[in-house]
Amino acid sequence: MDKSKIGLYYKNVMSEIIGDEHGITPNQWEDLAKQTSPIISMLNNERKEGKVPYRDLPFDTQISQAVQDLAAKYEESCENLVILGIGGSALGNIALQTALNSYMYNIDEAQREGPRLFVFDNVDPQQFGSFLDWISDKLDKTIFNVISKSGRTSETASQFMIICDMLSEILGPDTLRDHIIATTDAKQGTLRTIVDEMKLPHLEVPDGVGGRFSVLSAVGLFGAAMCGVDIDLLLEGARDMDQRVSEEDFLQNPAAINAAIQHHFYNRNKNISVMMPYSYALKDLCDWYRQIWAESLGKEVNLKGEKVYVGPTPVKALGTTDQHSQVQLYREGPNDKLFTFLQVNNFDKDVEIGPAPDCTPELGFLAGKNLSVLLNSEKMATEYALLQSQRPCMTAHFDKVDAYSVGQFIYLYEVTTSFAGALFGINTYDQPAVELGKEATFALMEKSGDCKAVEMSYDKFAQEIKEKTEIDEKYLI
Ligand code: PA5
Repeated sequence: MDKSKIGLYYKNVMSEIIGDEHGITPNQWEDLAKQTSPIISMLNNERKEGKVPYRDLPFDTQISQAVQDLAAKYEESCENLVILGIGGSALGNIALQTALNSYMYNIDEAQREGPRLFVFDNVDPQQFGSFLDWISDKLDKTIFNVISKSGRTSETASQFMIICDMLSEILGPDTLRDHIIATTDAKQGTLRTIVDEMKLPHLEVPDGVGGRFSVLSAVGLFGAAMCGVDIDLLLEGARDMDQRVSEEDFLQNPAAINAAIQHHFYNRNKNISVMMPYSYALKDLCDWYRQIWAESLGKEVNLKGEKVYVGPTPVKALGTTDQHSQVQLYREGPNDKLFTFLQVNNFDKDVEIGPAPDCTPELGFLAGKNLSVLLNSEKMATEYALLQSQRPCMTAHFDKVDAYSVGQFIYLYEVTTSFAGALFGINTYDQPAVELGKEATFALMEKSGDCKAVEMSYDKFAQEIKEKTEIDEKYLI
């Protein structure tokens, strides 16, 4: 099988293309190389010292073996795989499915190699209720994979409790371990306690790997393996990218270059980072990117403890759909964005455009052309238009979308995030601001005891939250 490298094309951020005011000048480029080069060695050393365990996931054969062994057990019996999780426990699964399985996967058996896949990363009662109505008479052929590193996330815990109740009622209380697989921390946490107590089949979220960096662990691999994705090829792509992003030479290291460019523009009033795939298959990878970028880089304090309030805002746009929704703003609005297009050279399927109706010969230029040609022409056209307005653009080129290229892309952006975090001088791997919202939810849902995060009882905390958020009629019109 021929394997192709993902290419990151960055000429169109340079001053020679978009001018000195908005582009990177040769002097600035030299400075970026000087500033970023020492970070390459620093990250390589941290990695050797075992401080960034996500970097080793693609090499961990035990994980992929455990995933494949468990997936094999359910191969025959499972017609529906339901993933319950949120944030880093869900976005990678969704992204892998959209990227590597066909658009009609769930609907068309002929286009499907595994069970139907449903990923619930919300607690919308209407959405979940409608799904429960549909699945309730199919439970005997359904596996629920509940994924939570902590097990105390309200959304996932609630979904888990709902399905336990439903399985007990419909199939009987003894059937839970036949229909639930838990993916959680190896040693600690609420879901770990449940796994041990209920003797549920389980997989591990590796130690020291946060949710948003966990897609290449059992968190993302199990759902992918169940649904026919070649996880060995996915991991091979990540391993090959690992070599490239470990290159000590700045000019040979795509993650260092990507992060340096992002950091440069952030510091020059372009603090919005738009990712715009011209491929429907890649659209959910942008949601995965939005999380890893936002949660890792949006920080109040730096590593010295100083208040910095940094963080580029990641934005997702889909080509060509959003040309007809966002591009007016992108070209004529504030020049505050860096664009990264995702372009695919070869699509698995292509469709030829039929002849133009006789009454509209003006449509004849489209006739007989493939949709892939139209899609990629629209990408080039949009990029050209943005460059005419001095907007910086990069492109990640996929020769084709397959497990190998997606593995490369995921690893490239994970390590780019580590580089960007180091350039910003912040802790890339924590998410303290998300925790307060989780605790506030506990308070409003009437948890008892004391909340350490705010040093008061949950009861009092709930009152304080309500004072700030309940509607004051005076301001409601
Ligand atoms: O990246 C992260 O750490 C978060 O997005 C978590 O994945 C998310 O909050 C879910 O947490 P948990 O896996 O503990 O349920």
